[in-house]
Amino acid sequence: MSSMLSGENITKRYGGLVALDDVSFEVEEGVICGLVGPNGAGKTTLLNILTGREEAKAGRVVFDGEGITGLPPDQICRRGLVKTNQIVRPFGNMTVTENIAVAAVWGDSEISNMAAATEKAEELVDFVGLEEFATAPAGRLTHTPNRRLELARALATNPQMLLLDEAAAGLTSEEIPPFLAIIRSIRDDLGVTLFWIEHVMEAVMDVADQVVVLNFGEIIAKGTPEEVTSDEDVQKAYLGGGVDA
Ligand SMILES: Nc1ncnc2c1ncn2[C@@H]1O[C@H](COP(=O)(O)OP(=O)(O)OP(=O)(O)O)[C@@H](O)[C@H]1O
Ligand SMILES: [Mg+2]
Repeated sequence: MSSMLSGENITKRYGGLVALDDVSFEVEEGVICGLVGPNGAGKTTLLNILTGREEAKAGRVVFDGEGITGLPPDQICRRGLVKTNQIVRPFGNMTVTENIAVAAVWGDSEISNMAAATEKAEELVDFVGLEEFATAPAGRLTHTPNRRLELARALATNPQMLLLDEAAAGLTSEEIPPFLAIIRSIRDDLGVTLFWIEHVMEAVMDVADQVVVLNFGEIIAKGTPEEVTSDEDVQKAYLGGGVDA
């Protein structure tokens, strides 16, 4: 398997705070890789650097064999590396389908008119299970359908790789399994590689092939879900109770 995304020696400071300290990792093509760690570990900061939203003090990002360090977010997105947001902000007065169509026009180079974009948006509405909200204004969506809309908007840009920032946050325990089915299907049916920040541990551990654990800006473990769950440093980072605590 070839490497899809790698970070090499990434360091980021905010004043005196070292948010990321010499972070290196690799995500192989076709995998679902989880990125976990306690609050403030640096997960969102890392994703922001990978997608050009923030600048690192040092380090290099390689995506699909090419250096992308320092490129602006729109260029990184058009190369196929796309991020969803921890806080979702759709266009509230446009419908769910329109929101997805706008993302397709903006981000998918093969789509150049609204008719094609709408067709693609309708497919994605089905893919993420938002049929009943297709014509609803996005501003009226509650939390759970909003998370699905955020996924659909990201998929509309035709990514090779998707970076998810707490995509399952706030879902109830009943809502998680169908959500995980969508995540799996993104990889299995759409062929998209995933790098996924998540606090809902059982969700990541269930779906991920590989997991990277960040703590205070440093990677403390990498491996299969089983390997990281049994890692002593990881258990200490999660305050004694193990990752499932
Ligand atoms: N713009 C900023 N200015 C100053 N400090 C920041 C900024 N963004 C993040 N930080 C700090 O950097 C550290 C890493 O933050 P980050 O948001 O990346 O953590 P996280 O792992 O995503 O946490 P959470 O799980 O709570 O989302 C934290 O200590 C945070 O307070
Ligand atoms: Mg975060």
